[in-house]
Amino acid sequence: MAEAYPITDHYYDAVVVGAGGAGLRATFGMANAGLATACLTKVFPTRSHTVAAQGGMSAALGNMGDDDWRWHMYDTVKGADWLGDQDAIEYMCKKAVDAVVELEHYGVPFSRTPEGKIYQRAFGGMTTHYGDGIAQRTAAAADRTGHAILHTLYQQSLKHEAQFFIEFFALDLIMDDDGACRGVLAWNLDDGSLHRFRAHTVVLATGGYGRTYFSCTSAHTCTGDGNAMALRAGLPLQDMEFVQFHPTGIYGAGCLITEGSRGEGGYLVNSQGERFMERYAPSAKDLASRDVVSRAMTIEIREGRGVGPKQDHIYLHLDHIDAEVIEERLPGIAESARIFSGVDVTREPIPVLPTVHYNMGGVPTNYHGEAVSPRDGDVDAVVPGLMAIGEGACVSVHGANRLGSNSLLDIVVFGRAAALRAAETITPGAPHKPLTEAAVEASLARFDGFRHAAGGNSTAEIRDDMQNVMQEYCAVFRTGEVLEEGRQKIAKTWAAMADLKVSDRSLIWNSDLMETLELDNLLRQAIVTLQGAVARQESRGAHAREDFPERDDVNWMKHTLSWLDDAGQARLDYRPVHTYTLSDEVEYIEPKARVY
Ligand code: FUM
Repeated sequence: MAEAYPITDHYYDAVVVGAGGAGLRATFGMANAGLATACLTKVFPTRSHTVAAQGGMSAALGNMGDDDWRWHMYDTVKGADWLGDQDAIEYMCKKAVDAVVELEHYGVPFSRTPEGKIYQRAFGGMTTHYGDGIAQRTAAAADRTGHAILHTLYQQSLKHEAQFFIEFFALDLIMDDDGACRGVLAWNLDDGSLHRFRAHTVVLATGGYGRTYFSCTSAHTCTGDGNAMALRAGLPLQDMEFVQFHPTGIYGAGCLITEGSRGEGGYLVNSQGERFMERYAPSAKDLASRDVVSRAMTIEIREGRGVGPKQDHIYLHLDHIDAEVIEERLPGIAESARIFSGVDVTREPIPVLPTVHYNMGGVPTNYHGEAVSPRDGDVDAVVPGLMAIGEGACVSVHGANRLGSNSLLDIVVFGRAAALRAAETITPGAPHKPLTEAAVEASLARFDGFRHAAGGNSTAEIRDDMQNVMQEYCAVFRTGEVLEEGRQKIAKTWAAMADLKVSDRSLIWNSDLMETLELDNLLRQAIVTLQGAVARQESRGAHAREDFPERDDVNWMKHTLSWLDDAGQARLDYRPVHTYTLSDEVEYIEPKARVY
């Protein structure tokens, strides 16, 4: 019998969970539209992981040469390896220019060209004229663009009447019998109290789940809490098998070295001093899309051309670039390289390795940010009262592989879109439907169960197991056999949770309990990631199956939907990719071979 927990009730029109770029853009957009809006966040807003985004935000501003949002759309569809929904991609790329201008007006200190325009750099997979030239499309604030955007968005949020609940950990969605979301249950880490937030819409903006892996560029807080909340609410996640490896994580540390460093002229070499990307991507070379570069690096290492005593990594050279350019455009990564690998980038190469960076999958949504789930034969049926935005959502604009700098764009465009939709559909101050205590019973029982867990396995041990399984069995290259072994191993890791030990029983700042709740969230996502990867018998974007090396549009141009029951059993189904556009300004882009 669960301990009785007093619960404080709150009533809002909208509740946003997460205060990264997407969450903050939605929060102040909703507050600005007159909706009573709360934002719950487990960390102080400016510590959200958006702060770590380095290289920039894509938009066809054309400040550094010809550009067109249709070329951007083409690149994004191709980068996504034709798994992206083209209506959503059209929406994002078309809105991109206004999104950057809006941010500039809010106060983002973008870097400048000598004439005073917003500076834009080259990024992987970004081209002009439908693949013919290299585009300079990524608007940058040196190599701290996410930092600049996040701080500006938080300042904007403070200007509006949004209410922040900081260091509140969201436990679960509150679902009604009719399938609608009616709010969220949260734990205040600071005083240990529990809170029921009622809302006409709950917006999940909780980011990715990079921490299922041992080595990733993501913060320790990136545990995909909203995704797991959706799974526990009986909702599906989409395309979870698509996990992006960023080519240049610092060897041994995992910290990000921005793709912008290659945009500024940096290049990769193997142990023979060869610029090997010329062999893999003759046109784009080091600026091919991330999945292509990560695979090329992995092949070089496998074939014995890695660098270092163990020949297990690759060098990134920036030492030919003028030191003044480094200081002006790449000061952050120069500092990271010095701290984490002891390298002076103006003199020596940086040791790098492909490192988990981004999750293309998440809560399926339409381009308004509304969560969707199949119902009564409608695969795109909206889940009443629930939205998702940012990395935790799968709109899907990134399909099977996201292009670098499309993520800062995604969070701002769809954060705004969610606010617009909420303003259209919610009447401020409308009464809330009564709910019974039963709506939070299962969630309280789970919380209480973990809090009093008195078994033999520590959270840290189970987390280590999970991270090692994902790192080894769900990597850059995959085979059915290895994935299946990983699937069985992760099932054992999940089973270890039944004999869990949580030693701290307090409710206040109990990091043992919080890490356990995060681990439970991560494990659920690890299971559906592996299950989706085992099932998908083709290679597409970041999902590279050596036993099925070709993309198979006949059988697999479809999104994976995965559900998970309380026993940890995943169930899969599929929904078609949107092969239509929103306007007649662009036509559907037909699939073709993806070469760079
Ligand atoms: O390389 C980078 O600066 C990362 C950017 C991104 O993931 O969009």
